[in-house]
Amino acid sequence: MNNLYYRNCLRLLDFSSLELKKIINLAQKLKQDKKNNIETQFLKKKNIALIFEKESTRTRCSFEIAAFDQGAHVTYLGPGSTHLGTKESIEDTAKVLSRLYDGIQYRGHDHNTIEILAKYSKVPVWNGLTEKFHPTQLLADLLTIKEIHPKKDFNNIKCAYVGDTNNNMGNSLLEAASLVGLDLRLVSPKECWPEKKLFTYCQKQAKQKNGNIVCTEDIIEGVKSVDFIYTDVWVSMGESETTWTKKIELLQSYQVNDSMLNATNNPQVKILHCLPALHDQKTDIGKSILKKYGFKNGIEITNNIFQKHQETIFEQAENRLHTIKAMVVSSLSKTINL
Ligand code: CP
Ligand code: NVA
Repeated sequence: MNNLYYRNCLRLLDFSSLELKKIINLAQKLKQDKKNNIETQFLKKKNIALIFEKESTRTRCSFEIAAFDQGAHVTYLGPGSTHLGTKESIEDTAKVLSRLYDGIQYRGHDHNTIEILAKYSKVPVWNGLTEKFHPTQLLADLLTIKEIHPKKDFNNIKCAYVGDTNNNMGNSLLEAASLVGLDLRLVSPKECWPEKKLFTYCQKQAKQKNGNIVCTEDIIEGVKSVDFIYTDVWVSMGESETTWTKKIELLQSYQVNDSMLNATNNPQVKILHCLPALHDQKTDIGKSILKKYGFKNGIEITNNIFQKHQETIFEQAENRLHTIKAMVVSSLSKTINL
């Protein structure tokens, strides 16, 4: 039997290194099959609940398209549309939903909520982002890395994650590096470094996989000869608007720009961004921050770098679909051969 059957994914460490690689391989196959119009449906007659307490473009659409492609049905439960935690306990909601559905996706403000959902759910629960972790994003990122460097093992990949490294993306990158042995540098001021306990654990595990994880404030040292520079917004969903002032003060020199790319000394360096990105003035937030703080050309990443590297970044976004599909299929199909 498929040993990922009926498994939750609350964080990447819910998987072993081998299991993670199997999901990525399955995603690669499903992507190819979809493009060749020969996709097999493993999820016929399955029903999936999608709970979103926060906004989403990629994650919601990827879960929905993954389900439709595979013959499953979804119910989208947007912000404020269920009794979850207001009139009905998380425990009771989990018990009800798992009688109706075959799987539950949750995106929300408090990681504790998904822990409780998973504890009382009888069906698999998948984390579509909490303030602590964003595991399905990392599935897509690893697939993207593999596609760009098909001949390299993950433990030969050097990646710098720059900006707010103490967020769901920083934590999930740490877990990914610990599982597949990346050379991961978290590049940010000390105030933005991740929680020590998780860092130390992941650093130790990464070493056993021939990887290496460091935190550094030094941009030149951090990005030296990397294959990838990864960044994310400096203020995450759910953080207050007032956080911007502090984050900009701390992070303005950590913007992904020409001089950072030059410092890699690698003309082939690729850029990753989980998106959405504040790279121009075409969004309300982008406009107001750029105006208020005097940024002229993007916030966490300049517009010219974003435009130049958009092919990789949008492939990474597309890979959300294929990897979410692989994760859901491996957890809901008893018979799939992984
Ligand atoms: N990267 C990501 O999770 O995007 P959404 O917020 O649009 O789902
Ligand atoms: N750190 C970001 C990731 C968005 C995909 C956030 O939580 O808003």
